[in-house]
Amino acid sequence: MSKFWSGVVHKLTPYVPGEQPKLNNLVKLNTNENPYGPSPQVIAALKLEAADTLRLYPDPNSDALKAAIAHEYHLNTNQVFVGNGSDEVLAHVFQALLKHDKPLLFPDITYSFYPVYCGLYGIKYQTIPLADDFSINIADYNQPNGGIIFPNPNAPTGMPLALAKIETLLQNNTQSVVVIDEAYVDFGTESAVGLINQYPNLLVTHTLSKARSLAGLRVGYALGSPDLIEALIRVKDSFNSYPIDRFASAGAVAAMQDVAYFEKTCRQVIATRNVLIKDLANLGFEVLPSGANFIFAKHKMHDGAELTAKLREHNIIVRHFKSPNRISPYLRITIGTDSQSKTLISALSEILGA
Ligand SMILES: Cc1ncc(COP(=O)(O)O)c(C=O)c1O
Repeated sequence: MSKFWSGVVHKLTPYVPGEQPKLNNLVKLNTNENPYGPSPQVIAALKLEAADTLRLYPDPNSDALKAAIAHEYHLNTNQVFVGNGSDEVLAHVFQALLKHDKPLLFPDITYSFYPVYCGLYGIKYQTIPLADDFSINIADYNQPNGGIIFPNPNAPTGMPLALAKIETLLQNNTQSVVVIDEAYVDFGTESAVGLINQYPNLLVTHTLSKARSLAGLRVGYALGSPDLIEALIRVKDSFNSYPIDRFASAGAVAAMQDVAYFEKTCRQVIATRNVLIKDLANLGFEVLPSGANFIFAKHKMHDGAELTAKLREHNIIVRHFKSPNRISPYLRITIGTDSQSKTLISALSEILGA
């Protein structure tokens, strides 16, 4: 606390990111990164970018990147907004589109950055409890609101919501913006991008951090009607003219263009996930259905905090959330390589056998 701080700073409860340990010998399954490196074409593009041109500012409008993204989704470039990671995109979304007199609605168990943005921008919100099976019940969102946001698949549960349900939600809710945060959608969840031309209040956010293996480059984007995108551009141009640097642009364009590599690595992650779910079930875990590159699992007899600590002794890190109580029995485990899964399963067999 300091007398020099602005009033809002005193009241902030910042987001706490998952641990990024400095040790090398860990099996790191805690922050949903991709176990495979980015496409070789991305590395080649980044090398080319290490040149004299770095003395020049990048394109403030990121036209090349917007064109690559628009091409991939058969949209126009005025339906694409890009930013420094989808966290930055989401921050602008909250400020530009979700701050109204009526409360913003999101699930009680969801991406924990949402209430943080509400605190930062002074946005009223109301959380809607997930059903007992952790699913999102869209009928619960039929109430006056200043916007609706949730991830699909949800985080940290990994559970996908069927596209038909999202379309019903959009039909029931035409007077405020509906944001579907599709950070993990490419790992087997149906995307709502195909509904964008039909619903002018639908905004979909994506990241290159997960399925395109570029968490270190910090690129995310939003797709929606030109009207919604213009609001985001107005906020961005009142904040930072150059959020996408020359490396981020070059790497992200190459990543969007190498569709074959992206599809291959997504398939590998999904295959590893399917085997891991079976192996965990054999060890007495209950695993929620996952459409993500992580799973949410609890053991019938052992507490989530206890298992997380014991795995750490085996140099394996997974994520555990102490609250709310409903999720404290669970471990959130990122899908790694097949070999990391084997290491995890043998450590758990040892821990549970002991
Ligand atoms: C649901 C969800 N949305 C958005 C993000 C932000 O990703 P990034 O800022 O790396 O694009 C994350 C990161 O973990 C996430 O879990």
